[in-house]
Amino acid sequence: MQKPNSQRGRFITLEGLDGAGKSTHLNWLADCLRARGLNVIVTREPGGTPLGEKLRALLLNEHMHLETEALLMFAARREHIAQVIAPALERGDWVLSDRFTDASFAYQGGGRGLSWSKLAELEQWVQGSGSAMLQPDITLLFDVSLEVSQARLANGRELDRFEREAADFHQRVRQAYLDRAAASAGRIKCIDSDRPLEVIRAELAGLLEPLFV
Ligand code: TYD
Repeated sequence: MQKPNSQRGRFITLEGLDGAGKSTHLNWLADCLRARGLNVIVTREPGGTPLGEKLRALLLNEHMHLETEALLMFAARREHIAQVIAPALERGDWVLSDRFTDASFAYQGGGRGLSWSKLAELEQWVQGSGSAMLQPDITLLFDVSLEVSQARLANGRELDRFEREAADFHQRVRQAYLDRAAASAGRIKCIDSDRPLEVIRAELAGLLEPLFV
């Protein structure tokens, strides 16, 4: 039987263009939550399970049809929910995931042009539908200009298959994230991430406060 809402953990996802600073914020958020005595699971997509990490290696390196790409993203997600996310929330742990389904709408939908209706079908298949649909309690969308994102990527490590895409691909990804945020009834919080770290952290702390009820 599902626990009452107050005893279930909270599910927080982080999204944004590559180079938006997600990872830095993720580690800081995990530390803040742990300092409050919470059990925190930090995970990522694609990945998060042994099988999911194998799929991640394929997804980030192998050329494939765009529908294959979407199906594998959701296959990895199904496993992630079954093995990690759902059991953790049920135990009362908090889950912080570096990307989740909004990334599929942004990259496979916006970036590659897969229809939103197909993605919505996969979302329902994997996350359930109606009031039983598993959705993050809050999604933090780190929005940066394309210039900032590309500059950060340029002086980093070797780029993966998505990061190597042209600027117009990333522009479409960014726009799809913003569209999805606008349609999310407040779940997705758009955070202007061109600002200094301390300013962003103060905003994040305020955004998470309503989850501690
Ligand atoms: P990312 O979090 O950027 O990994 P890293 O910080 O190690 O580079 O995720 C890897 C890539 O996967 C990223 O470019 C976006 C892509 N992706 C999708 O295209 N669709 C999805 O559903 C997910 C979860 C990720």
